[in-house]
Amino acid sequence: MAVTKSSEPLRIGLFVGREWSWPPAFIEEVNRRNQGVIAEYVKVGGTQMNEPCPYRVIVDRISHEVPYYRSYLKNAALQGVKVINDPFMWTADDKFFGASLAEQLGVKSPKTVVLPNRDYVPGIVKTESLRNLVYPMDWQAIVHYVGMPCVLKDAHGGGWRDVYIVNSMDDLIFRYNGSGLLTMIVQEFIEWDNYARLMCLGQNDIYVMKYDPKSRRYHEEHDFSPELHHRMVEDATKLVRAFGYDMNTVEFAIRDGIPYAIDFMNPAPDMDVNSLGRKHFDWMVTHMADMTIRLAKSNEGTADRYEWARVAEENKSSKTGKKAVAPKTEKAVAPKTEKAVAPKTKPAGDKKPPKTKSS
Ligand SMILES: Nc1ncnc2c1ncn2[C@@H]1O[C@H](COP(=O)(O)OP(=O)(O)O)[C@@H](O)[C@H]1O
Ligand SMILES: [Mg+2]
Repeated sequence: MAVTKSSEPLRIGLFVGREWSWPPAFIEEVNRRNQGVIAEYVKVGGTQMNEPCPYRVIVDRISHEVPYYRSYLKNAALQGVKVINDPFMWTADDKFFGASLAEQLGVKSPKTVVLPNRDYVPGIVKTESLRNLVYPMDWQAIVHYVGMPCVLKDAHGGGWRDVYIVNSMDDLIFRYNGSGLLTMIVQEFIEWDNYARLMCLGQNDIYVMKYDPKSRRYHEEHDFSPELHHRMVEDATKLVRAFGYDMNTVEFAIRDGIPYAIDFMNPAPDMDVNSLGRKHFDWMVTHMADMTIRLAKSNEGTADRYEWARVAEENKSSKTGKKAVAPKTEKAVAPKTEKAVAPKTKPAGDKKPPKTKSS
Protein backbone atom coordinates (compact mmCIF):
# COMPACT_ATOMS: atom_id res chain seq x y z
CA MET A 1 0.00 0.00 0.00
CA ALA A 2 1.22 3.48 -0.74
CA VAL A 3 2.66 5.45 2.12
CA THR A 4 0.24 8.24 3.00
CA LYS A 5 -0.79 9.44 6.40
CA SER A 6 -4.51 10.00 6.70
CA SER A 7 -4.09 13.76 7.17
CA GLU A 8 -2.12 14.04 3.96
CA PRO A 9 -3.73 14.30 0.54
CA LEU A 10 -3.66 11.26 -1.70
CA ARG A 11 -1.16 11.74 -4.48
CA ILE A 12 -1.29 11.14 -8.21
CA GLY A 13 2.12 11.21 -9.89
CA LEU A 14 2.78 11.85 -13.55
CA PHE A 15 5.66 10.67 -15.75
CA VAL A 16 5.74 12.66 -18.99
CA GLY A 17 7.96 13.31 -21.97
CA ARG A 18 7.82 16.15 -24.45
CA GLU A 19 4.13 16.86 -24.26
CA TRP A 20 2.99 20.26 -23.19
CA SER A 21 -0.79 20.49 -23.40
CA TRP A 22 -2.36 17.54 -21.58
CA PRO A 23 -0.12 17.16 -18.48
CA PRO A 24 -0.50 20.68 -17.02
CA ALA A 25 -4.22 20.74 -17.86
CA PHE A 26 -4.69 17.40 -16.08
CA ILE A 27 -2.72 18.47 -13.01
CA GLU A 28 -4.71 21.69 -12.80
CA GLU A 29 -8.01 19.84 -13.18
CA VAL A 30 -7.25 17.35 -10.38
CA ASN A 31 -5.97 20.02 -8.00
CA ARG A 32 -8.85 22.39 -8.77
CA ARG A 33 -11.40 19.83 -7.61
CA ASN A 34 -10.29 19.84 -3.97
CA GLN A 35 -11.09 16.17 -3.44
CA GLY A 36 -8.25 15.45 -1.02
CA VAL A 37 -6.23 14.25 -3.99
CA ILE A 38 -3.37 16.14 -5.59
CA ALA A 39 -1.52 15.58 -8.84
CA GLU A 40 2.10 16.48 -9.59
CA TYR A 41 5.09 15.43 -11.67
CA VAL A 42 7.11 12.55 -10.19
CA LYS A 43 10.80 13.23 -9.54
CA VAL A 44 13.13 10.24 -9.31
CA GLY A 45 16.85 9.65 -9.67
CA GLY A 46 18.14 6.27 -8.51
CA THR A 47 15.77 3.99 -6.59
CA GLN A 48 16.43 1.55 -3.75
CA MET A 49 14.80 -1.84 -3.86
CA ASN A 50 11.43 -1.83 -2.11
CA GLU A 51 11.64 1.93 -1.81
CA PRO A 52 8.20 3.08 -0.68
CA CYS A 53 6.30 5.15 -3.18
CA PRO A 54 4.47 8.31 -2.06
CA TYR A 55 1.83 7.97 -4.80
CA ARG A 56 -1.48 6.09 -4.81
CA VAL A 57 -1.70 6.35 -8.59
CA ILE A 58 0.97 7.02 -11.19
CA VAL A 59 0.12 7.93 -14.77
CA ASP A 60 2.94 6.86 -17.05
CA ARG A 61 3.20 8.48 -20.49
CA ILE A 62 6.84 7.83 -21.32
CA SER A 63 8.40 4.68 -19.82
CA HIS A 64 8.47 3.03 -23.28
CA GLU A 65 11.26 5.45 -24.10
CA VAL A 66 12.87 5.80 -20.66
CA PRO A 67 13.45 2.24 -19.42
CA TYR A 68 14.61 3.34 -15.94
CA TYR A 69 11.10 4.69 -15.35
CA ARG A 70 9.69 1.26 -16.27
CA SER A 71 11.85 -0.36 -13.58
CA TYR A 72 10.81 2.30 -11.08
CA LEU A 73 7.16 1.66 -11.93
CA LYS A 74 7.41 -2.09 -11.45
CA ASN A 75 8.80 -1.50 -7.97
CA ALA A 76 6.01 1.03 -7.35
CA ALA A 77 3.46 -1.63 -8.33
CA LEU A 78 5.03 -3.97 -5.80
CA GLN A 79 4.51 -1.28 -3.14
CA GLY A 80 0.77 -1.24 -3.90
CA VAL A 81 0.55 1.66 -6.37
CA LYS A 82 -1.96 1.64 -9.20
CA VAL A 83 0.18 2.32 -12.25
CA ILE A 84 -1.54 3.50 -15.41
CA ASN A 85 -0.68 1.66 -17.54
CA ASP A 86 0.36 -1.65 -16.03
CA PRO A 87 4.13 -1.74 -16.73
CA PHE A 88 4.19 -5.55 -16.81
CA MET A 89 1.57 -5.85 -19.51
CA TRP A 90 3.04 -2.97 -21.46
CA THR A 91 6.43 -4.71 -21.42
CA ALA A 92 4.91 -7.97 -22.60
CA ASP A 93 2.46 -6.99 -25.33
CA ASP A 94 2.97 -7.14 -29.06
CA LYS A 95 0.74 -6.86 -32.08
CA PHE A 96 0.90 -10.53 -32.97
CA PHE A 97 -0.23 -11.78 -29.56
CA GLY A 98 -2.79 -8.98 -29.65
CA ALA A 99 -4.24 -10.21 -32.95
CA SER A 100 -4.50 -13.78 -31.67
CA LEU A 101 -6.10 -12.67 -28.40
CA ALA A 102 -8.52 -10.33 -30.20
CA GLU A 103 -9.77 -13.26 -32.26
CA GLN A 104 -10.25 -15.33 -29.11
CA LEU A 105 -12.23 -12.46 -27.60
CA GLY A 106 -14.55 -12.45 -30.60
CA VAL A 107 -13.10 -9.18 -31.92
CA LYS A 108 -12.45 -9.09 -35.67
CA SER A 109 -8.77 -8.83 -36.50
CA PRO A 110 -7.01 -8.68 -39.87
CA LYS A 111 -5.29 -11.99 -40.67
CA THR A 112 -1.80 -11.73 -39.22
CA VAL A 113 1.50 -13.62 -39.51
CA VAL A 114 4.61 -13.00 -37.42
CA LEU A 115 7.91 -13.40 -39.31
CA PRO A 116 11.32 -14.60 -38.20
CA ASN A 117 13.69 -11.68 -37.63
CA ARG A 118 15.71 -10.51 -40.59
CA ASP A 119 18.92 -9.77 -38.66
CA TYR A 120 20.42 -10.77 -35.31
CA VAL A 121 22.81 -9.55 -32.65
CA PRO A 122 26.47 -10.40 -33.41
CA GLY A 123 26.48 -13.39 -31.02
CA ILE A 124 24.09 -15.26 -33.30
CA VAL A 125 25.93 -17.36 -35.90
CA LYS A 126 23.32 -17.97 -38.58
CA THR A 127 24.56 -21.44 -39.53
CA GLU A 128 24.71 -22.67 -35.91
CA SER A 129 22.43 -20.64 -33.66
CA LEU A 130 19.18 -20.85 -35.60
CA ARG A 131 18.55 -24.59 -35.73
CA ASN A 132 14.88 -24.08 -34.91
CA LEU A 133 14.23 -21.91 -37.89
CA VAL A 134 12.81 -23.13 -41.16
CA TYR A 135 14.58 -21.45 -44.05
CA PRO A 136 13.81 -20.11 -46.59
CA MET A 137 10.45 -18.70 -45.60
CA ASP A 138 7.43 -19.69 -47.63
CA TRP A 139 6.50 -16.21 -48.84
CA GLN A 140 3.89 -17.58 -51.21
CA ALA A 141 1.99 -19.24 -48.38
CA ILE A 142 2.19 -16.10 -46.25
CA VAL A 143 0.85 -13.88 -49.02
CA HIS A 144 -1.79 -16.45 -49.90
CA TYR A 145 -3.05 -16.19 -46.30
CA VAL A 146 -2.99 -12.40 -45.81
CA GLY A 147 -3.67 -11.33 -49.42
CA MET A 148 -2.19 -8.44 -51.39
CA PRO A 149 -1.91 -5.51 -50.74
CA CYS A 150 -0.84 -6.22 -47.19
CA VAL A 151 0.74 -4.37 -44.30
CA LEU A 152 4.21 -5.07 -42.93
CA LYS A 153 4.77 -3.55 -39.51
CA ASP A 154 6.80 -3.77 -36.34
CA ALA A 155 5.10 -6.05 -33.80
CA HIS A 156 6.24 -3.69 -31.03
CA GLY A 157 5.85 -0.46 -32.97
CA GLY A 158 3.99 2.76 -32.32
CA GLY A 159 3.71 6.23 -33.78
CA TRP A 160 3.50 4.89 -37.37
CA ARG A 161 7.18 3.93 -37.35
CA ASP A 162 8.04 0.98 -39.61
CA VAL A 163 4.54 0.56 -41.03
CA TYR A 164 4.53 -0.28 -44.77
CA ILE A 165 1.57 -0.89 -47.01
CA VAL A 166 2.97 -3.07 -49.77
CA ASN A 167 1.49 -3.91 -53.16
CA SER A 168 3.70 -6.70 -54.44
CA MET A 169 5.82 -9.62 -53.31
CA ASP A 170 8.98 -7.73 -54.34
CA ASP A 171 7.94 -4.74 -52.29
CA LEU A 172 7.18 -6.95 -49.29
CA ILE A 173 10.56 -8.71 -49.41
CA PHE A 174 12.35 -5.41 -50.01
CA ARG A 175 10.78 -3.89 -46.88
CA TYR A 176 11.35 -7.05 -44.86
CA ASN A 177 15.03 -6.99 -45.85
CA GLY A 178 15.27 -3.54 -44.29
CA SER A 179 13.66 -4.53 -41.00
CA GLY A 180 16.92 -5.37 -39.19
CA LEU A 181 16.47 -6.58 -35.62
CA LEU A 182 12.75 -5.79 -35.45
CA THR A 183 10.10 -8.47 -35.22
CA MET A 184 7.73 -7.84 -38.10
CA ILE A 185 4.17 -8.90 -38.70
CA VAL A 186 2.44 -9.13 -42.07
CA GLN A 187 -1.21 -8.32 -41.99
CA GLU A 188 -4.21 -8.37 -44.25
CA PHE A 189 -4.84 -4.84 -45.51
CA ILE A 190 -8.33 -3.68 -44.59
CA GLU A 191 -9.62 -1.41 -47.34
CA TRP A 192 -11.69 0.69 -44.98
CA ASP A 193 -14.57 3.01 -45.70
CA ASN A 194 -14.58 4.58 -42.25
CA TYR A 195 -12.16 4.67 -39.34
CA ALA A 196 -12.56 5.07 -35.59
CA ARG A 197 -10.37 5.71 -32.61
CA LEU A 198 -11.80 4.98 -29.19
CA MET A 199 -10.26 6.39 -26.06
CA CYS A 200 -10.71 3.84 -23.28
CA LEU A 201 -10.21 4.93 -19.68
CA GLY A 202 -10.43 2.73 -16.60
CA GLN A 203 -11.64 -0.17 -18.76
CA ASN A 204 -15.22 1.14 -18.79
CA ASP A 205 -15.25 4.75 -19.92
CA ILE A 206 -15.16 4.65 -23.71
CA TYR A 207 -15.16 7.69 -25.97
CA VAL A 208 -15.76 7.15 -29.68
CA MET A 209 -14.11 9.41 -32.23
CA LYS A 210 -13.99 9.40 -36.00
CA TYR A 211 -10.44 9.56 -37.29
CA ASP A 212 -8.95 9.97 -40.72
CA PRO A 213 -5.61 8.13 -40.95
CA LYS A 214 -4.88 9.74 -44.33
CA SER A 215 -4.81 13.28 -42.97
CA ARG A 216 -4.09 12.01 -39.43
CA ARG A 217 -6.88 14.16 -38.07
CA TYR A 218 -9.79 13.60 -35.73
CA HIS A 219 -13.27 14.74 -36.69
CA GLU A 220 -15.27 16.58 -34.06
CA GLU A 221 -18.37 14.48 -34.75
CA HIS A 222 -18.70 10.89 -35.93
CA ASP A 223 -21.17 9.37 -38.37
CA PHE A 224 -21.28 5.79 -37.02
CA SER A 225 -24.63 4.02 -36.83
CA PRO A 226 -25.88 3.14 -33.33
CA GLU A 227 -25.22 -0.58 -34.03
CA LEU A 228 -21.66 0.02 -35.18
CA HIS A 229 -21.05 2.38 -32.27
CA HIS A 230 -22.36 -0.24 -29.83
CA ARG A 231 -20.23 -3.00 -31.33
CA MET A 232 -17.05 -0.95 -31.25
CA VAL A 233 -17.65 -0.01 -27.61
CA GLU A 234 -18.21 -3.67 -26.75
CA ASP A 235 -15.13 -4.82 -28.67
CA ALA A 236 -12.91 -2.11 -27.20
CA THR A 237 -14.15 -2.93 -23.70
CA LYS A 238 -13.23 -6.58 -24.16
CA LEU A 239 -9.77 -5.64 -25.39
CA VAL A 240 -8.89 -3.22 -22.59
CA ARG A 241 -10.27 -5.55 -19.94
CA ALA A 242 -8.25 -8.46 -21.31
CA PHE A 243 -5.05 -6.41 -21.47
CA GLY A 244 -5.72 -4.52 -18.27
CA TYR A 245 -5.06 -1.12 -19.83
CA ASP A 246 -6.66 1.88 -18.12
CA MET A 247 -5.61 4.50 -20.68
CA ASN A 248 -5.54 3.22 -24.22
CA THR A 249 -6.78 4.02 -27.71
CA VAL A 250 -8.28 1.27 -29.79
CA GLU A 251 -8.38 1.81 -33.57
CA PHE A 252 -10.91 0.19 -35.86
CA ALA A 253 -10.86 0.14 -39.65
CA ILE A 254 -14.46 -0.26 -40.77
CA ARG A 255 -15.19 -2.27 -43.89
CA ASP A 256 -18.78 -3.04 -44.94
CA GLY A 257 -20.01 -2.08 -41.48
CA ILE A 258 -17.62 -4.45 -39.69
CA PRO A 259 -14.99 -2.98 -37.35
CA TYR A 260 -11.54 -4.62 -37.58
CA ALA A 261 -9.25 -3.97 -34.64
CA ILE A 262 -6.07 -2.56 -36.23
CA ASP A 263 -4.15 -1.09 -33.35
CA PHE A 264 -5.23 -1.48 -29.76
CA MET A 265 -2.00 -1.25 -27.82
CA ASN A 266 -1.52 2.47 -27.39
CA PRO A 267 -0.77 2.69 -23.67
CA ALA A 268 0.55 6.26 -24.03
CA PRO A 269 -2.17 7.51 -26.36
CA ASP A 270 -2.00 10.86 -28.08
CA MET A 271 -3.61 13.47 -25.85
CA ASP A 272 -2.31 16.58 -27.53
CA VAL A 273 -4.76 19.41 -28.03
CA ASN A 274 -3.37 20.14 -31.49
CA SER A 275 -4.23 16.72 -32.89
CA LEU A 276 -7.34 16.01 -30.80
CA GLY A 277 -8.98 19.39 -31.09
CA ARG A 278 -10.47 21.23 -28.11
CA LYS A 279 -13.61 19.13 -27.68
CA HIS A 280 -11.86 15.75 -27.48
CA PHE A 281 -9.01 17.23 -25.46
CA ASP A 282 -11.38 18.56 -22.80
CA TRP A 283 -12.92 15.09 -22.51
CA MET A 284 -9.44 13.55 -21.95
CA VAL A 285 -8.61 16.08 -19.23
CA THR A 286 -11.83 15.74 -17.27
CA HIS A 287 -12.23 11.97 -17.63
CA MET A 288 -8.60 11.24 -16.77
CA ALA A 289 -9.13 13.35 -13.64
CA ASP A 290 -12.35 11.42 -12.83
CA MET A 291 -10.64 8.06 -13.23
CA THR A 292 -7.44 8.82 -11.37
CA ILE A 293 -9.23 10.47 -8.44
CA ARG A 294 -11.53 7.45 -8.19
CA LEU A 295 -8.54 5.09 -8.27
CA ALA A 296 -6.58 7.16 -5.75
CA LYS A 297 -9.46 6.74 -3.30
CA SER A 298 -9.83 3.02 -4.01
CA ASN A 299 -7.77 0.03 -2.89
CA GLU A 300 -6.94 -1.03 -6.43
CA GLY A 301 -3.33 -1.79 -7.19
CA THR A 302 -1.55 -2.97 -10.32
CA ALA A 303 -0.29 -5.95 -8.29
CA ASP A 304 -3.86 -7.30 -7.97
CA ARG A 305 -3.48 -9.15 -11.27
CA TYR A 306 -0.24 -10.92 -10.37
CA GLU A 307 0.93 -14.09 -8.72
CA TRP A 308 4.18 -12.51 -7.42
CA ALA A 309 2.09 -10.21 -5.25
CA ARG A 310 0.14 -13.14 -3.87
CA VAL A 311 3.30 -15.09 -2.96
CA ALA A 312 4.92 -12.02 -1.40
CA GLU A 313 1.78 -11.45 0.64
CA GLU A 314 1.85 -15.09 1.81
CA ASN A 315 5.42 -14.63 2.94
CA LYS A 316 4.62 -11.46 4.88
CA SER A 317 1.67 -13.18 6.54
CA SER A 318 3.70 -16.25 7.50
CA LYS A 319 6.20 -13.97 9.25
CA THR A 320 3.58 -12.00 11.14
CA GLY A 321 1.46 -15.09 11.83
CA LYS A 322 -1.51 -13.36 10.24
CA LYS A 323 -3.61 -15.15 7.70
CA ALA A 324 -2.74 -14.21 4.15
CA VAL A 325 -4.86 -11.37 2.86
CA ALA A 326 -7.31 -12.72 0.34
CA PRO A 327 -6.30 -11.58 -3.12
CA LYS A 328 -8.65 -9.00 -4.53
CA THR A 329 -9.40 -10.99 -7.63
CA GLU A 330 -9.32 -14.72 -8.03
CA LYS A 331 -6.87 -16.23 -10.42
CA ALA A 332 -8.21 -17.44 -13.74
CA VAL A 333 -7.54 -21.14 -14.29
CA ALA A 334 -6.02 -21.93 -17.65
CA PRO A 335 -7.94 -24.69 -19.39
CA LYS A 336 -6.00 -27.97 -19.07
CA THR A 337 -7.96 -29.92 -21.61
CA GLU A 338 -9.78 -28.99 -24.74
CA LYS A 339 -12.87 -28.55 -22.65
CA ALA A 340 -12.77 -24.98 -21.40
CA VAL A 341 -12.57 -24.68 -17.63
CA ALA A 342 -14.72 -21.82 -16.49
CA PRO A 343 -12.41 -19.15 -15.10
CA LYS A 344 -12.97 -18.39 -11.45
CA THR A 345 -12.87 -14.65 -12.00
CA LYS A 346 -15.91 -12.64 -11.07
CA PRO A 347 -18.54 -12.59 -13.79
CA ALA A 348 -18.51 -9.58 -16.04
CA GLY A 349 -21.81 -8.57 -14.50
CA ASP A 350 -19.95 -7.56 -11.35
CA LYS A 351 -18.18 -4.85 -13.24
CA LYS A 352 -19.71 -1.50 -13.88
CA PRO A 353 -21.29 -1.49 -17.34
CA PRO A 354 -19.31 0.51 -19.86
CA LYS A 355 -20.05 4.20 -19.75
CA THR A 356 -20.13 5.42 -23.28
CA LYS A 357 -20.13 8.77 -24.83
CA SER A 358 -20.13 9.68 -28.43
CA SER A 359 -18.24 12.57 -29.77
N1 LIG B 1 -4.13 -4.10 -41.42
C1 LIG B 1 -4.30 -2.82 -41.80
N2 LIG B 1 -5.23 -2.48 -42.72
C2 LIG B 1 -5.40 -1.19 -43.09
N3 LIG B 1 -4.66 -0.17 -42.63
C3 LIG B 1 -3.72 -0.45 -41.70
C4 LIG B 1 -3.49 -1.77 -41.23
N4 LIG B 1 -2.49 -1.75 -40.33
C5 LIG B 1 -2.11 -0.47 -40.24
N5 LIG B 1 -2.83 0.32 -41.06
C6 LIG B 1 -2.70 1.78 -41.22
O1 LIG B 1 -1.45 2.21 -40.75
C7 LIG B 1 -1.59 3.06 -39.61
C8 LIG B 1 -0.48 2.76 -38.62
O2 LIG B 1 -0.55 1.38 -38.20
P1 LIG B 1 -0.69 0.99 -36.66
O3 LIG B 1 -0.83 -0.48 -36.56
O4 LIG B 1 -1.76 1.82 -36.05
O5 LIG B 1 0.73 1.40 -36.12
P2 LIG B 1 1.18 2.33 -34.89
O6 LIG B 1 1.12 1.46 -33.70
O7 LIG B 1 2.54 2.75 -35.26
O8 LIG B 1 0.18 3.46 -34.81
C9 LIG B 1 -3.01 2.79 -39.09
O9 LIG B 1 -3.53 3.91 -38.43
C10 LIG B 1 -3.75 2.50 -40.36
O10 LIG B 1 -4.14 3.68 -41.01
MG1 LIG C 1 -1.91 3.32 -34.59
